[in-house]
Amino acid sequence: MRYCDTLARMIHYCQEDYANASPALWFEIDDLLNRVWPPAEPPRTLTLTPVHRLDLRPHSFFARVDGRLLAYAAILHKTARHASADWRIAGLSCVCSDPAHRRLGLGAGVVSKATRWLLASDVDLGLFTCDPALVPFYVRRGWQPARDLVVVGNGTLGAIRGDAAGKVTLLRLISPRAHAHAADFCRGEFNLALPDRQFW
Ligand SMILES: CC(C)(COP(=O)(O)OP(=O)(O)OC[C@H]1O[C@@H](n2cnc3c(N)ncnc32)[C@H](O)[C@@H]1OP(=O)(O)O)[C@@H](O)C(=O)NCCC(=O)NCCS
Repeated sequence: MRYCDTLARMIHYCQEDYANASPALWFEIDDLLNRVWPPAEPPRTLTLTPVHRLDLRPHSFFARVDGRLLAYAAILHKTARHASADWRIAGLSCVCSDPAHRRLGLGAGVVSKATRWLLASDVDLGLFTCDPALVPFYVRRGWQPARDLVVVGNGTLGAIRGDAAGKVTLLRLISPRAHAHAADFCRGEFNLALPDRQFW
């Protein structure tokens, strides 16, 4: 049996409402994110600080191998106004896999699980940004690039902008209402209406 087949049998995919997850899971997620995106200065003491804004109703998807949490993705939710209508939107955030366990299908696994869960939810559309090199990775998991739609953190002058950060917008229309208004999501700006200096 090939290593990949053996590994596939050992992967356990799980999901949990982040806000109600155990402190142990919060630490595990924090630990993985710190390995993937090492902080400039390591924290002096371990504190139980949420890695997601809880008002965005984060839902966590993760992969364990031999009990170790090795890949992660979160779905964040909010309502945003766009083209004179309110939309229930959700975005992928903190998608990552353990640096020592890349290219083994773990990242694809959590993104597929999260995307499937999103498609069965009551959200109107999914929307987030990624580096251009990762567009094919997300397209193969059901997302479409919307290259002329720019995601902005909010409407202020200094807001974080996807285009300024060199990111590509990925979109997935979900509800019949979103499909009926598909033309509204082809170009222009989509304002997430987040507080200053925030993005997803
Ligand atoms: C991006 C990331 C999650 C991929 O995780 P992974 O476990 O290595 O991915 P997988 O093994 O499941 O690979 C899935 C596919 O993506 C491709 N892929 C993986 N990493 C890639 C990369 N950095 N660039 C381009 N393609 C990549 C693989 O070739 C594979 O192709 P396939 O769809 O034909 O099978 C991981 O590299 C990572 O954590 N990167 C740092 C954090 C990051 O950039 N996150 C994305 C935020 S939007």
